[in-house]
Amino acid sequence: MQIMTIQEEIRKLKQEKNAVILAHYYVRPEVQEIADYIGDSFYLSKVAVGLKEQTIVFCGVSFMGESAKILNPEKRVLMPDMCADCAMAHMADAETIRELRTQYEDLAVVCYINSTAELKQLSDVCVTSANAVNIVRELPNRNIFFIPDRNLAHFVAEKVPEKHFVFNEGYCPVHQEISIEEVKRAKNAHPGAEVLTHPECPADLLEISDYIGSTSGIIEYAGKSRASEFIVCTENGVRYELEKKYPEKTFYFPETEPVCQDMKRITLEKILHVLKTGENEVKLDDTLREKSKLPLQRMLELAGK
Ligand code: 13P
Ligand code: SF4
Repeated sequence: MQIMTIQEEIRKLKQEKNAVILAHYYVRPEVQEIADYIGDSFYLSKVAVGLKEQTIVFCGVSFMGESAKILNPEKRVLMPDMCADCAMAHMADAETIRELRTQYEDLAVVCYINSTAELKQLSDVCVTSANAVNIVRELPNRNIFFIPDRNLAHFVAEKVPEKHFVFNEGYCPVHQEISIEEVKRAKNAHPGAEVLTHPECPADLLEISDYIGSTSGIIEYAGKSRASEFIVCTENGVRYELEKKYPEKTFYFPETEPVCQDMKRITLEKILHVLKTGENEVKLDDTLREKSKLPLQRMLELAGK
């Protein structure tokens, strides 16, 4: 009897169970390779709507699986690892939101998609790093409370100076830790290289960057740019797509490579396991699901304009 590889087993089960695999660019290369759709948070939230398959296996962290379930209540969403969570998703609190709503009559609570459903349900609109600037600009409100990410908030505030921002103290530990000294050293070693940076990074790093954008934005920019070398300031999972897409270009990362340990929890073995057993299904209380759907839907509407 011929033994199947784990990839073959996953593909077979996927068909049998009418399942589709979605993956973020930060997961391991072998997981990206088996996925049907790979992308940044915005792309994945758009793709999740309108899939024909009944089961979605979400290779990412919990807020991503939750968002897929919120947008597709009738589907089964399976997480290969229920412990893969995003630290930043919890870095805001309901009390401050309530208090600020009493202080500012026209407050819009703008919630980065990297947040729990509990925070989303208290918000007016969701954004991702790919659409935050445009969506905030479109809002009729002048006062903005941007949660949870302070770095993305400051980046957006600079681009939309006509609005008044209240900042929150959340951050992504992976992007926050990228060392500007290491990036400068890499720049000295490769003077022709352009610095491509995710807006979850601190302001001093954004200042010395040639391009700032979401993971998809970084990938797209690297293709369009005339430069042939790049220093990439985001999680090292994007290397797989960058090198696959542009084999003629060279990509460097800061010496201490940014790694999101939660994204790396997703393995082929765990994907196979949830496909076999149906375990790790995302379950959300109906009221929470309905309430948190509104800001997500508003994001999709505003981003589609
Ligand atoms: P994007 O997918 O919007 O680039 O965000 C990166 C991220 O940190 C996802 O967890
Ligand atoms: Fe969260 Fe940062 Fe990991 Fe993205 S890279 S999932 S923002 S901890």
